[in-house]
Amino acid sequence: MSGSLAETFYIKTMGCQMNVYDSDYVAQRLMAIGMSPEEDPGRANVVLLNTCTVRAKPEHKAATFIGRISKLKKRNRDLILGVLGCLAQQEGAEILKKFPYVDFVIGPRQIHDVIEIIKRVRSGEKGIIATDLEQIPSPGKVLEGYFQGRVSAFITIMQGCDNFCSYCIVPYVRGRELSRPPHEIVEEARILVDQGIREITLLGQNVNSYSWSGNGAKWDFPLLLRQVSAVPGLKRLRFTTSHPKDLSEDLIRCFGELQNLCPHIHLPFQAGSNKVLKRMNRKYTREQYMALIDKLRDVRPDIAVTSDAMVGFPGETDRDFQDTIDLVQQVEFDGVFSFKYSDRKGTLAAKFEEKVPEAEKAKRLQILQQIQKQITLKKNQGLEGKIVQVLVEGESSRGGQQSGRTPTNKIVNFDSNINLIGNLVNVLIETGYPNSLRGKLVENNP
Ligand code: 5AD
Ligand code: SF4
Repeated sequence: MSGSLAETFYIKTMGCQMNVYDSDYVAQRLMAIGMSPEEDPGRANVVLLNTCTVRAKPEHKAATFIGRISKLKKRNRDLILGVLGCLAQQEGAEILKKFPYVDFVIGPRQIHDVIEIIKRVRSGEKGIIATDLEQIPSPGKVLEGYFQGRVSAFITIMQGCDNFCSYCIVPYVRGRELSRPPHEIVEEARILVDQGIREITLLGQNVNSYSWSGNGAKWDFPLLLRQVSAVPGLKRLRFTTSHPKDLSEDLIRCFGELQNLCPHIHLPFQAGSNKVLKRMNRKYTREQYMALIDKLRDVRPDIAVTSDAMVGFPGETDRDFQDTIDLVQQVEFDGVFSFKYSDRKGTLAAKFEEKVPEAEKAKRLQILQQIQKQITLKKNQGLEGKIVQVLVEGESSRGGQQSGRTPTNKIVNFDSNINLIGNLVNVLIETGYPNSLRGKLVENNP
């Protein structure tokens, strides 16, 4: 790119961890050709927005942001403006029509073309749409020093989803399942650890269906997990997200076996009613789900379990909703991300009748969140008086405090004026709150 050395870019990332990984990927590609990151979009030469469309709310947020950023272009005609991610994939040409200042849209499977596309815009091309879902993403090398100063990082191990849960847009915007070669993933983990990363989270829409064969070997997710776990110097390993229907006995065993695998699993249940689960095409029953939780707790009694749940799926009655509440109370999750169902264009559920009114959805969501908040609080208070290990991520927003996470992924704040970023410390928990814990530093093991 001509004059690229002086050029700067700004990326705004919305949505899930996959998008965070993708934005880091794009940032590294741009930095590799000499561009530098800029925190103020008003001063950047290239502004990118990595979007999410999983529910109505993030979609609206993305649209608002594009509208706001478009105004920058009135002041600076040379600014290049690109929309990436799932909304770009879903809306493609529509985005360009609605926001004529946008120069290009790139879907999740084509982000490796970002530099070439920026070059095309520089040479005068307008309205570029790069949303080919059949493309195989080409991995990029981890940029020297990019992760220095960070404590944790993500590695995407597979793209896409083949499950077609009836409410979900993901299979349409991220394409079919495609696993990355294991040697590439293990190598990436090694490089990250060499750059100082202490905690790695393996990412996929459904990591349990990771599958790769080559060189006479067949790899599944537990095998990959064991290999990444063995990377020298890696202190903590996590993965997300798991689909209950594919959670194997072997994977459950890993929680008892791998010393650096954190005792935390995010296992979305979505709904507690078997009728609703069937209409969601989830392919498990509430009984099967609860049996998995029992098995996980047998192998690893201290395991934290978090989940996703949805209220107001089409046809969800009061009784069905009660089944969800019931499941939440029985399992006693450490945390639940809960959402009002929203129609996603092109999905099966969008065509279902018996839509639940917005006000009813809001009421159900509030009830569910209130109940879960009490459960989370009770669990967090149960840690008072106990010593937990914390991987310090940096100073807390309050100042004078350091902040980090337990192996169970709970946020812990403690007083300290010393910067302990990257250290594993022991903290005596004094108070449990609904969203975090507070304690006192008892030991520092750098
Ligand atoms: N409406 C509401 N919530 C949804 N999710 C996915 N699709 C929808 C939808 N159409 C939720 C699920 C999923 C999480 C990432 O978002 O709970 O696990
Ligand atoms: Fe969507 Fe279901 Fe795939 Fe998760 S498993 S991304 S909810 S289709």
